[in-house]
Amino acid sequence: MTSELLRNAYERSERYLSEIDSQRVFPATSDLTALTGFEEPFPETGHTPEDILRQLDELGASATVASAGSRYFGFVVGGSLPVAVGANWMATAWDQVASSSVTSPVADKIEKVTSQWLLDVLDLPRQSAIGFVTGATMATFTALAAARHKILKKQGWNVEEDGLFGAPEIKVIVSDEVHVTVLKALSMLGFGKSRVIKIPTDTNGAMDISALPVLDSRTIVCTQAGNVNSGAFDPIDEICDHAQVADAWVHVDGAFGLWARSSSSKAYLACGIEKADSWAADGHKWLNTPYDGGVVVCRDDEALHGAMSVSAAYLKDRDRASQSYIPEFSKRARGIDIWAALKFLGRDGVDDLISGCCDLAQYFAKGLEALGLNILNDVVLNQIVVSWDSAEKTEALIHTVQQDGTCWFGPTVWKGHNAFRLSVSSWKITRQDIDLSLKAIEDSMQKIETSK
Ligand SMILES: Cc1ncc(COP(=O)(O)O)c(C=O)c1O
Repeated sequence: MTSELLRNAYERSERYLSEIDSQRVFPATSDLTALTGFEEPFPETGHTPEDILRQLDELGASATVASAGSRYFGFVVGGSLPVAVGANWMATAWDQVASSSVTSPVADKIEKVTSQWLLDVLDLPRQSAIGFVTGATMATFTALAAARHKILKKQGWNVEEDGLFGAPEIKVIVSDEVHVTVLKALSMLGFGKSRVIKIPTDTNGAMDISALPVLDSRTIVCTQAGNVNSGAFDPIDEICDHAQVADAWVHVDGAFGLWARSSSSKAYLACGIEKADSWAADGHKWLNTPYDGGVVVCRDDEALHGAMSVSAAYLKDRDRASQSYIPEFSKRARGIDIWAALKFLGRDGVDDLISGCCDLAQYFAKGLEALGLNILNDVVLNQIVVSWDSAEKTEALIHTVQQDGTCWFGPTVWKGHNAFRLSVSSWKITRQDIDLSLKAIEDSMQKIETSK
């Protein structure tokens, strides 16, 4: 029964992945309409597992976005490496509570090894503490909780016990290009989205260091390695130098950009980042692991542990357990997906993945320019921001390409201009995929011009 069921699930998944590149990237309207098939009343009696998998496959698979395929350029989304999918399946079958060595010796061991590998491949301080969280949003949340803990502790204030009411004030600095999820993390921590000091950015979206206010030991500077539109990096090296003198905390939101440190051609962008205090990165974006795969790295083990640990009589044997470095108590064995991807790729493979996507982004940008489109950013990484002659034509182009279904990208506003944004973040993308996508874009431009 169990083996038949798992084989059934495997066969359906295998077919899905083997056919993905011949499907529309975004589902057709009829596939979306068919989703009403899920709108059933809660069943009085249970259905068979086969029925459930069949419905999921027949109604669900055709209404997926083919972001695991090779022509998805929306947001910053990678497609999972097959080895990471396989490891994820096995870990799911094991169904481990990956919170400590008591609840899962294997998850604990693999996550500890993976932590060292991450510090190695990202070249971050080797004694740093690491937590496996859901994504970069939670990684930033967790890191900033550690910052809050440490800064207030130095002021003689125990924020975990006494909260923020009456606490010494903390100054938070971000750029005007800060990712919305950093603001969300700040709001969840009681810092407030509007209480921050916003520093202007240059034409490519990097913080203008000349506008950095005076830092002190009650300051957190939230920097960005990889602007979600342009891919730009804040001058983190210099910011860290100022922060070190002032004893301020520097956090790096490197959801995807932190991986530049593993690229032989792009590491220069992320130079000096190792001087920061905390870092947020995703496996599920550019390392191409399944979702729910973020990582928080914190130079100061005590600060992260102090912010995240809990104690109870029944947890006595769990000192320094992985659950005492993250917000969650129970969690799946997230580190296993990342371990599998890193072991499969190795140092050379990670370099090839990251550097290769950046080379493809250059190729894509040149092709778009040759079509008469405007590249609005300096394509330093894997992100391209593009516009056509006017806001109306740009929007029409996004819509027409999305309707066509060969590839997918979405809108953005860049420095006041309506634009669209392409991200090259998947191991699957090749030059042929970009050529096919350029052809679809060219055809859409012609369609728009002739329909006027
Ligand atoms: C720069 C940046 N920071 C943070 C995030 C949030 O990451 P996650 O969705 O993994 O929480 C993103 C996601 O797009 C991002 O691009």
